[in-house]
Amino acid sequence: MRHLMSPLDLSVEELDKLLDLAGDIEKNPEKYAHKCDGKILATCFYEPSTRTRLSFESAMMHLGGKVLGFATADSSSAAKGESVSDTIRMISCYADICAMRHPKEGAPMVASTKARIPVINAGDGGHQHPTQTLTDLLTIRSLKGRLDHLTIGLCGDLKFGRTVHSLINALIRYPGISFIFISPEELRIPDYIREDVLDANGIPYKEVIRLEEVMPRLDLLYMTRVQRERFFNEEDYVRLKDFYILNKEKMAYAREDMLILHPLPRVNEISVEVDDDPRAVYFEQVQYGVYVRMALILTLLGLAGQEEK
Ligand code: CP
Repeated sequence: MRHLMSPLDLSVEELDKLLDLAGDIEKNPEKYAHKCDGKILATCFYEPSTRTRLSFESAMMHLGGKVLGFATADSSSAAKGESVSDTIRMISCYADICAMRHPKEGAPMVASTKARIPVINAGDGGHQHPTQTLTDLLTIRSLKGRLDHLTIGLCGDLKFGRTVHSLINALIRYPGISFIFISPEELRIPDYIREDVLDANGIPYKEVIRLEEVMPRLDLLYMTRVQRERFFNEEDYVRLKDFYILNKEKMAYAREDMLILHPLPRVNEISVEVDDDPRAVYFEQVQYGVYVRMALILTLLGLAGQEEK
């Protein structure tokens, strides 16, 4: 039985296979429509979500399976003090696979140690968000044609943005990757990412504050929102929330083939006037999230590679 806590739980080879499967699902959805007949996915979300929870549910339904779960901690027995460890023991009796989001870093990992079913980390605090990374990788590979030899700008809240941390971990395994981190001083990437991930692996990177100055060098710009829910005080959030607003004026500095990704939700960091720019692919990214979660469910349930059967 396998769980997914971090993108690094999959080797590059496994990741490529999973992305290939997602690509086949996109092209031939009918082939997969009954792969999960009789299977149940539980979505246990202790923190708000639109995309991750609903895309998991949509993915399981497109595979012919069923879903159950809770969307807030308040609507589960967590409100009465039940631990994640006890909850996953219950869920193991009700479902075949579980996607869990939790505000505490490591909570899905704790659940996985007590589970009798595969557990997927659907976002844990400011730590990791591996299925967003799978979504991002599929989007990049599908629209850019490769995952190597790219200069990637990551902009916004790089301190608390778990999607950024997961994406960096995943991308450093491909040759020719370099990063430009664009953030205010207070929201720089954490030291452990800089030292243990980037420096330790000899990955080239640069840290800047101004977006315009690096825009012409980027193959991809990954925008992120400032994570209000992780701030200790509202004053700091209000001061930093509109630090970056990508608009048409700033897009004039970008290459013709630079893609803009965003894990969403967007607040103010991308002006709606950019949405019609063909380089803005964040809504396409959402669709790739369904295909890749379908591929992940099949893989963790041991149902991948049985298309001909
Ligand atoms: N990208 C993402 O995790 O969105 P949700 O918080 O809506 O799930």
